Amino acid sequence: MCAARILYGKPVQEAILEEVRQGVEELAAAGLRAPKLAALLVGDDPASAIYVRSKTRMCSETGLDSEAFQLPSSTSTEELLKRIDELNHDAGVDGILVQLPLPEGLDTDVVLDAVDPAKDVDGIHPENVGLIVQGRPRFVTCTPGGIIELLERNEIEIHGKNAVIIGRSEIVGKPMAMLLMHRHATVTICHSRTQDLPGVARAADILIVAIGRDAMVTPEFVKPGACVIDVGINRVADRQRVEEIFGADADWQKFEDRGYLVVGDVHPAVAEVAGAFTPVPGGVGPLTIGMLLANTLRSARRRLGVGS
Ligand code: GUN
Repeated sequence: MCAARILYGKPVQEAILEEVRQGVEELAAAGLRAPKLAALLVGDDPASAIYVRSKTRMCSETGLDSEAFQLPSSTSTEELLKRIDELNHDAGVDGILVQLPLPEGLDTDVVLDAVDPAKDVDGIHPENVGLIVQGRPRFVTCTPGGIIELLERNEIEIHGKNAVIIGRSEIVGKPMAMLLMHRHATVTICHSRTQDLPGVARAADILIVAIGRDAMVTPEFVKPGACVIDVGINRVADRQRVEEIFGADADWQKFEDRGYLVVGDVHPAVAEVAGAFTPVPGGVGPLTIGMLLANTLRSARRRLGVGS
């Protein structure tokens, strides 16, 4: 029997989007234009194409303008920089999103540094990361910001708790640590060289997992009753691995239809130990998009002179 609370992302995303819709209506009532997001997708990674499509679809459902630019994988860093420069100078664009990962051969740091920090609605430009570190964020990085919304809107206490983050990426692990620390958690960041990872993770009241390895976090990593947030989205196409992870509970119909199953970084058996956990899919994913739209509204308000 699974007694843990399941923390679904959809209701929190819907609450965030409702706030964004209201903000867009307020702009319209003041005679101002809708916020606009420009998304750059380089190459033909199918998962990235799906993410960009769902971001632009969600924009139109929420009253934001959006435009997706699909560039071939042969695009050079210089060509991409030129496109970013045009968007930086386009007064009608409030937010610029460069979908990651970029194809090999492109310099991700150079590309991300080129985005105007005032339009960096992903919250990953060094200037915006610096503001997050100082506790006065302009744009909160989308996935960590969404996780904070999920915790707070589900009334999961952060203040004074032990938070352990597995994964030290620029886009999740590092900003997540700052956001939790500013909310008075005691934060530990773990990574591939951490000794006794299960032991360190077991100290967590809040365990955040963002390592990109299917079902790696098993019940031995989890203190009974802990809140476990799973950021992983892994496609498992190997039948034997699906069997190892899910045993008799595997959804073979879905596996046959798609050729893979989507699995988080957290093993399904953790549901038997945790006090609360996010499902994959349907947990953290929707929140990232919600925060992206909230940041785009925030950018538009700042740029139109009606917000700070
Ligand atoms: N790829 C995976 N997550 C993200 C994200 O939050 N932003 C961007 N731009 N790319 C991603």
